[in-house]
Amino acid sequence: MAIEQPVHAPAFLYGTAWKDERTAALTELAIRAGFRAIDTANQRRHYFEAGVGEGLAAAYRAGVVTRADLFLQTKFTYQRGQDHRLPYDASASLAAQVAQSLASSLQHLGTDHVDSFVLHGPSSASDWADADAEVWEAMRKERDAGRTRLLGVSNVSLRHLEQMQAAHAELPVYVQNRCFARLGWDREVRSFCKERKITYQGFSLLTANQEVLQHPPLISLAQRLNVTPAQAVFSFARAVGILPLTGTSDPDHMQQDLASASVNLPPEVILAIESMAE
Ligand SMILES: NC(=O)c1ccc[n+]([C@@H]2O[C@H](COP(=O)([O-])OP(=O)(O)OC[C@H]3O[C@@H](n4cnc5c(N)ncnc54)[C@H](OP(=O)(O)O)[C@@H]3O)[C@@H](O)[C@H]2O)c1
Repeated sequence: MAIEQPVHAPAFLYGTAWKDERTAALTELAIRAGFRAIDTANQRRHYFEAGVGEGLAAAYRAGVVTRADLFLQTKFTYQRGQDHRLPYDASASLAAQVAQSLASSLQHLGTDHVDSFVLHGPSSASDWADADAEVWEAMRKERDAGRTRLLGVSNVSLRHLEQMQAAHAELPVYVQNRCFARLGWDREVRSFCKERKITYQGFSLLTANQEVLQHPPLISLAQRLNVTPAQAVFSFARAVGILPLTGTSDPDHMQQDLASASVNLPPEVILAIESMAE
């Protein structure tokens, strides 16, 4: 099976969580607005992955993009993170669940491979456990079989990553975490990633950091630079090496979020935002 050449590293990921019946229309709208990277998960409780596939199909039909223009990322979610709508047989081995989940994702998304396949979260909040090791090795097999180009992990601590490094020959290409400004924007995990050339994807950059967005110094910095506070946060994120996610449903915010990629913040502003909430 020929896999298209790697698409450029995305500058922004469009997130499709919590959109239910609006998923198809918003996915298509995001692509029409200019997003080229889509994040989803085979977890019906929070994502409607088949709806993402409908949105992609509509964009292909309209000639807006082809599959080769897009970066598609999905996730494997353990049963405890799911509701009754499972994308695998719960009595199968974890390795089989991984294979079934990805096969179902490919069907939902109408493709023969995704660009990135992510473990949604380790089985334990404290440690990288045997179950995670089994899942990770199964994910590597899926990658070796060409059903994903790259692999990632999500909702991980520094401890998870250190234990993962000790247990496996291969680390993820992506780490996707919720990024709290009060924790130095996940400084410890970001620095582990940076040292190993792992791309850090940050979500909840706005929703987890209202104290920053409403902080008068940030508001005046943004005004001075003629950007919105949200754009300042996204542009700060990119400046410190975070690949940001946005799940906006608003067409104007889609444009503003994308435009943040061309905002250049002065170094002193980047430093100020980095420690604003600590
Ligand atoms: N791995 C995981 O466990 C995990 C967990 C959570 C999320 N995610 C991924 O990350 C994606 C993003 O989720 P998120 O938690 O970052 O939150 P989100 O669902 O994207 O929410 C972003 C919020 O910010 C607002 N917003 C966006 N752009 C804005 C702008 N330019 N100006 C003002 N407000 C703006 C949005 O409102 P409007 O809609 O009105 O613009 C929305 O209320 C999800 O869809 C999902 O793909 C992954």
